[in-house]
Amino acid sequence: MNRREFLYGTTALTLPVIAGCDNSDEPVASIDTNYPVSPFGAKSTAEEVTLGLDLTGKTAVVTGCNSGLGYETMRVLAMRGAHVIGTGRNIEKASKACSSVTGKTTPVALELSNFDSIIECADAIAKLSLPVDILVCNAGINTFSDLELVNGVERTFVVNHLGHFVLVNQLMPLIKESEESRVVHVSSKSAYVQAPSVGIDFDNLRGEGAFDYWEAYGRSKLANALFSLELSSRLEGSSISSNALHPGLVQTNIARNAPVVLRTAFDWFGGLISKTPEEGAATQVYVATNPNIKGVSGAFFEDCNAVNVSGDHHIFNKSMAERLWSVSEEMADGYLIGW
Ligand SMILES: NC(=O)c1ccc[n+]([C@@H]2O[C@H](COP(=O)([O-])OP(=O)(O)OC[C@H]3O[C@@H](n4cnc5c(N)ncnc54)[C@H](OP(=O)(O)O)[C@@H]3O)[C@@H](O)[C@H]2O)c1
Repeated sequence: MNRREFLYGTTALTLPVIAGCDNSDEPVASIDTNYPVSPFGAKSTAEEVTLGLDLTGKTAVVTGCNSGLGYETMRVLAMRGAHVIGTGRNIEKASKACSSVTGKTTPVALELSNFDSIIECADAIAKLSLPVDILVCNAGINTFSDLELVNGVERTFVVNHLGHFVLVNQLMPLIKESEESRVVHVSSKSAYVQAPSVGIDFDNLRGEGAFDYWEAYGRSKLANALFSLELSSRLEGSSISSNALHPGLVQTNIARNAPVVLRTAFDWFGGLISKTPEEGAATQVYVATNPNIKGVSGAFFEDCNAVNVSGDHHIFNKSMAERLWSVSEEMADGYLIGW
């Protein structure tokens, strides 16, 4: 057990920290009234935020559909009439999840740490000859382990950010075919409470410096927010929006690799302070579907509203977002298409 696990392991703080929701002195989010304010909040569920919506004719892609927030997102989008293409790390996981929900679903395999798998996934989706109206970049990991490199790049960064960077790029022709498409990036408040103080530490993405898995998770979630920001800027004037969000602290399988003391605490007591998956999925489903925020892009949402975040952080740092885009392009060289 390292020092941080020890400090948190015996207190209620254990639970928020698991999913990047540390309660200590940190930046604070508040509703940004420059955007349409919704009547929904922390206790709203994905079903509630879509009540009365008919998504018939829409196609949605949801990554990580077999577990937690991805499963609930797929379930509710399909329930409201969308055709949901649900991805799992292998076809068996995706098929099992897809066949367990009511509505039209198509399972596709997607292993985000393997760029060839991402190309195969995009090819399989293209074969369906459907525009992509909603893309929820949801899949993610918190490794809770020592540094691991995937093709020379830190694993959390690859799975949570770079893999989705390649996927969005590969799907862009289908996204552009939609009349109004929404790219939704499931980030976390870890982006502003757990990332390195400098933001994306570009000189440490390949394991060059010290490694801390909490920071690595925060960095990857900051990358989600910055990717969303830069994508929104590059798509300005189009009918495609890009927004990022924090779902809240949600009792899912995200802590599956946590040390036993943290995992047990999360399993036993998480329910006292965390959202259910039904509540946790509300923000991403809201951002993906709500008509009142049509055209809103480049925002960061929490509890179903766009937020401002006080204090020192980098989630709206445009120059860092631009740099992250170029570095991501270099890292994914050979796997990207022009659009
Ligand atoms: N739960 C929270 O409190 C919380 C808070 C803030 C942000 N988030 C974010 O919410 C998103 C969903 O997480 P969750 O809480 O629902 O966790 P989860 O239950 O663990 O689900 C994660 C999903 O991502 C998939 N996945 C993991 N590694 C992958 C890879 N290499 N390639 C493709 N798919 C992969 C998982 O597949 P397998 O099941 O096959 O591993 C699973 O389907 C994540 O981006 C997470 O960072 C969660």
